[in-house]
Amino acid sequence: TDKYAVFGNPIAQSKSPFIHTDFAAQTQQNLSYEAILAGVDQFPQSLRLFFGQGGKGANVTAPFKQQAFELCDELSELAQLSGAVNTLIKLADGRIRGDNTDGVGLVTDVEAHFGELTHKRVLLVGAGGAARGCLKPLLDAGAKVTLCNRTFTKAQALAAIFADIGDVNACEIAQLSQPFDVVINSTSAGLAGELITLPSEIINAQTHCYDMTYSAQTTLFNQWAGAQGAKSVADGLGMLVGQAAQSFYVWRGVKPNMSDTMAQLRLQMA
Ligand code: ATR
Repeated sequence: TDKYAVFGNPIAQSKSPFIHTDFAAQTQQNLSYEAILAGVDQFPQSLRLFFGQGGKGANVTAPFKQQAFELCDELSELAQLSGAVNTLIKLADGRIRGDNTDGVGLVTDVEAHFGELTHKRVLLVGAGGAARGCLKPLLDAGAKVTLCNRTFTKAQALAAIFADIGDVNACEIAQLSQPFDVVINSTSAGLAGELITLPSEIINAQTHCYDMTYSAQTTLFNQWAGAQGAKSVADGLGMLVGQAAQSFYVWRGVKPNMSDTMAQLRLQMA
């Protein structure tokens, strides 16, 4: 049995053990997957122990994604650009390779809900780690991305990093005056029960809205989007399953089916 795990703090809430165990059963892969709580200062030690005891790969969640990025021996291009790692792979020679599957998970789910992103005008709200991890996959999908953020300078800095990869610009929230095809919320505001203030002009009856966070009830951001007349809204549960599916593929070379796992998770949350 090949050993995998997810590291985080806190970690008890993680749905990754359920998701990967479900993927493994579905694809008949012989693996185990556990949740490991690492002390805030103990992540490198905890990881070393896991790989020393035969671990094949791991996921990393908050607050360790930047630290994981720093301690990898090798990085995928996506991980490099993201400045964060959510997937670790132990290579045959023992070195640790870091990847970031969050953005692929997001784009897969956004396109499943709203259709292809090619030439679509996308507003990405927020300029933290979550936004950064998704920019390359969004641009690779052909989206024309506008970045906005409470702290505008951070949106500008991100746009500059990705300027060579695709069509990306930054805009002050107060200057946003046109509707977008897709609006994606990557801020952590909702987790604190807060809502970022955005002009209602960014949404019309054609606009699809996506919140990277998820909950049993409609998220605050999606409630707001619905009230502005958005065509449809989706939350980030599918992104969670999508990044897991991409990690599973990186490790096992097999693509699991996501819809059945999603349906089970949605039921568990209800
Ligand atoms: P993550 O890894 O989840 O992206 P992060 O790197 O801390 O976390 O970034 C959090 C993002 O949410 C930032 O864009 C932050 O805006 P600032 O750059 O201005 O701090 C945004 N954010 C968090 N709380 C917010 C709030 N109450 N209103 C608006 N934006 C908020």
